[in-house]
Amino acid sequence: MLAARADQRVLGYLGRALSLELSAVQMYTTQARLVGAWGLAEAAEHLRNEAQEEMGHADRIIERMLAIGVAPSASQLRPVRLGRDLAELLEVNREFELELVQLYTDATRHSARVGDHDHRMFFERLLGEEQTHYDELTEWLARLQNSVPADVPETAVSPRTRREPLTTQRRFRSVR
Ligand SMILES: [Fe+2]
Ligand SMILES: [Fe+2]
Repeated sequence: MLAARADQRVLGYLGRALSLELSAVQMYTTQARLVGAWGLAEAAEHLRNEAQEEMGHADRIIERMLAIGVAPSASQLRPVRLGRDLAELLEVNREFELELVQLYTDATRHSARVGDHDHRMFFERLLGEEQTHYDELTEWLARLQNSVPADVPETAVSPRTRREPLTTQRRFRSVR
């Protein structure tokens, strides 16, 4: 039933979605630990909850792939992206959520075009949730920028560390 209607591109969208969702789990879990180490307990909890939501998305995609007879295989986890303070992390996350929004927009449109309404609804629901994540991050960032330095640790707001460009590669060695 479902398997007969899932064309190759739909399968491709499912595979890419799984890779991105699991990448989000890895990224938000890492960021939660990082901001926890900065002393930002509330932000850490929020990021941990985000990681759990993304894991829920990955779980739904895995369930869907099994239902159509496909073995889930997320082969391309993205490297974790970090930043020198909370605002930079939130910018990184906004970009990531936008990528998910774009992927689910494309997947929803394609499914509609080929008449696969099950997958159209499946992707559309994920699209709505990622759009909400994006909007929440935008609001969080705006609140943060209006209240600096209240929720940012001392080291992160010193003029030197704020101006100096800092890449993930410089501070966090890649293990690849
Ligand atoms: Fe997600
Ligand atoms: Fe998300």
